Amino acid sequence: MSDESRPTPAQTPVAAVIPAAGRGVRLGPGAPKALRALSGTPMLIHAVRALAASRHVSLVIVVAPPDGAAEVKSLLDAHALPERTDFLVVPGGESRQESVRLGLDALPPQYGVVLVHDAARPLVPVETVDAVVEAVRDGAPAVVPALPLADTVKEVEPAAAAGDPEPVVATPERARLRAVQTPQGFDRAALVRAHETVTENVTDDASMVEQLGLTVVAVPGHEEAFKVTRPLDLVLAEAVLARRRLTDGF
Ligand code: C5P
Repeated sequence: MSDESRPTPAQTPVAAVIPAAGRGVRLGPGAPKALRALSGTPMLIHAVRALAASRHVSLVIVVAPPDGAAEVKSLLDAHALPERTDFLVVPGGESRQESVRLGLDALPPQYGVVLVHDAARPLVPVETVDAVVEAVRDGAPAVVPALPLADTVKEVEPAAAAGDPEPVVATPERARLRAVQTPQGFDRAALVRAHETVTENVTDDASMVEQLGLTVVAVPGHEEAFKVTRPLDLVLAEAVLARRRLTDGF
């Protein structure tokens, strides 16, 4: 598509890529993390529904465990999902970054805005998804939802053996720090270029766009967009769902 005929970010349809190919070893033994149940429904289905709840999002690409694409496809077929949204499943890779790239490779040409959302953040509210989309449509090449920190953060010299004392080397000013969540939103061309250019391992997609020298902006995140990483996070997620059932009646 030529630059003249390419729709602007304000007009273009929005797709979401959900990397769900991780093993989730920190949760303990069992099924891949995204397939574990929360209140009887796989975490991945919660995450897919959370993104598809946004009226902006018309395609969701799920990046499945490399040997689990068929299983994930039948899982999506077995659960009620919004009819106005299309779904695709592709096999993932060795790292989160590779999984996201494989998702981007499957993106049809008309989508000019891409959200990348961890399957491990199943409870992100639709208001957060919409805020990210709107900031990209307003012209930011990359947008992250972010929250202020409750804890003071120290930079340390990591010890050789786990549990050994670690010298503190710096204390960044807490008021200037943010904990970053997903979905992160991107102008598609910027994200694709970042994935082609940055080869070192990173923990989020926005930092790759940062490395290209492009502007990344933060919008308010949400406490319910937390990442399910450890067993206690499953308890918290079940509690959030129970509260939603009480207050929203579903
Ligand atoms: O491991 P971590 O919690 O950082 O994973 C974040 C997200 O990336 C999860 O949704 C996980 O399924 C996904 N991931 C992936 N492919 C990998 C590793 C992680 O899609 N190889």
